[in-house]
Amino acid sequence: MGRRNKRLQVLLCVAIIVCILQIVNSKWNIFNIGKHLFQSRTTKAELKSLTDLAKDNKAPYQGEAPSPKSSNHPDLRIIVVVYNRPQSLERLLNSLNEAHYFKHNVELEVWIDRSKKDGSIHNATYYAARKFNFLHGKYKVCNHTKHVGIYGQWIDTWNPAPDSREIAVILEDDLTVSKHFYLWLINVHRKYDDRTDLAGYALQGRSMKHGGAAGNLRGPDKDVCFMYPILGTWGYSPHLKNWLRFVEWYKNVSKDASFQPLVPGILPSQWWQVFQKQGKTNGMWSMWHIYHAWNNKLWTLYPNLEDSRGLTISWKEAGLHYKKGDTSADPILQEWKPVYEDLPREPARVDVNGKVLRFKIQ
Ligand SMILES: *[C@@H]1O[C@H](CO)[C@@H](O)[C@H](O)[C@H]1NC(C)=O
Ligand SMILES: *[C@@H]1O[C@H](CO)[C@@H](O)[C@H](O)[C@H]1NC(C)=O
Ligand SMILES: *[C@@H]1O[C@H](CO)[C@@H](O)[C@H](O)[C@H]1NC(C)=O
Repeated sequence: MGRRNKRLQVLLCVAIIVCILQIVNSKWNIFNIGKHLFQSRTTKAELKSLTDLAKDNKAPYQGEAPSPKSSNHPDLRIIVVVYNRPQSLERLLNSLNEAHYFKHNVELEVWIDRSKKDGSIHNATYYAARKFNFLHGKYKVCNHTKHVGIYGQWIDTWNPAPDSREIAVILEDDLTVSKHFYLWLINVHRKYDDRTDLAGYALQGRSMKHGGAAGNLRGPDKDVCFMYPILGTWGYSPHLKNWLRFVEWYKNVSKDASFQPLVPGILPSQWWQVFQKQGKTNGMWSMWHIYHAWNNKLWTLYPNLEDSRGLTISWKEAGLHYKKGDTSADPILQEWKPVYEDLPREPARVDVNGKVLRFKIQ
C-alpha cells in the first residue's frame, strides 16, 4: 500500500513538473499554452477570413534609416516623441524634470516628426522643446529628417549598442510621468532583465483588457506587478534584446505586402481591420509588436499598485489615438512605498481577458 502511494506521488510530481515547464521554458512548451491564451474569442476560421480580407492592403511603413547606433551608454535614455502638441510636450517635460534620478547618467531626447504634407517641423513644438531646460543630464532635440509617422517614432528612435545595458523609455507627448518612474524601472529591469520571455515593461496603471472583457486590467491584489501578453503604450521601456529582435523582424516582415500582423481573439486585430478598410493602418504600429510578442511568447510586465496608480498617466488628448480629448486623467503614483520593491520572483500571468493564471506548487 505504502509503495503504491509513493509511486502515485512520484507520478504526480512528474505531472506537475511537466505542467510548470509548459509555462517557464518555451522549449518544453509542447502544448503551446501561450498561443491558446489568445484563442478564447476568435476561431481559426474567423481569422482566416480576416487574413483574406486583409491581403490587398500594403504594410504601411517599411522602416526608415534608424537613428545612428548609440556609442554612449547612459543609465537611462528617455525618448520623447512628438509632432504638433507643444502644451502636451511642456507638461511631460516638466514632469520629467520633477522625477528622481539619483544622480545617474540620464539622457533626454525629444524627437519631432515632420508633416506628411510638406515635411515641415511644427514651429511652436520645436520652440517648446528648445526652450526647455533639463536639470538632470544631457538634453537633445532631434528633428526627424523626413515624415516617419508613429511607426518611425517608435521603431527607429532607439538604437542601442547590443552590448549596452542602458534602460530606455519611450514616451508619447500626452503623458505625465510619476516622480518615481525611474526607480520603478531600475527595480524591474534589475529583477527581470535576465528573463528571455519579456518584451518590456509598461508604466501605466490602467489598461483595458484586450480580449474584450469589461473593466480595468488587474493582477492579483497582493502582487505589485504581473505579466500580460500585450504591451502598454503609455510609457514603455523595452527589454533590450527582445526589442532589437522585434525591430529586425519588423523591418524584414513588413517588406512582404501581403503579411498581416493579426492575432486571434483580441480587439486590436478588429481595429486593425477597420483601419485597413479606411486605409489608416499607419496609425497602428503597436499591432506589429503585439503580433511579434504573441508569436514569440513574450510578455509585458505591468505595475499593479494600489488604486491602479500609474508610473505614467495618459491625458488621452485629441490626436492620432483619440478623437476628442478625454480630460479625466487616471491616478498617478505620488508616494513611494518600500513594498513596491518586493517584486515576485515569478510574476503572475494574466490573460487578455484579465484572468489570472497561477501555477503554484504547494
Ligand atoms: C529643426 O526645425 C526647426 C523648425 O523648423 C529649425 O528652426 C531648426 O533649425 C531645425 N534644427 C535642425 C538641427 O535641423
Ligand atoms: C516660431 O516660433 C517662435 C516662438 O514662438 C517665434 O519667435 C518665431 O517667429 C516663429 N517662426 C515662424 C517661422 O513662425
Ligand atoms: C524575412 O521574412 C521572410 C518572409 O516574410 C522569411 O521567409 C525570412 O525567413 C525572414 N528572414 C529573416 C532573417 O528573418
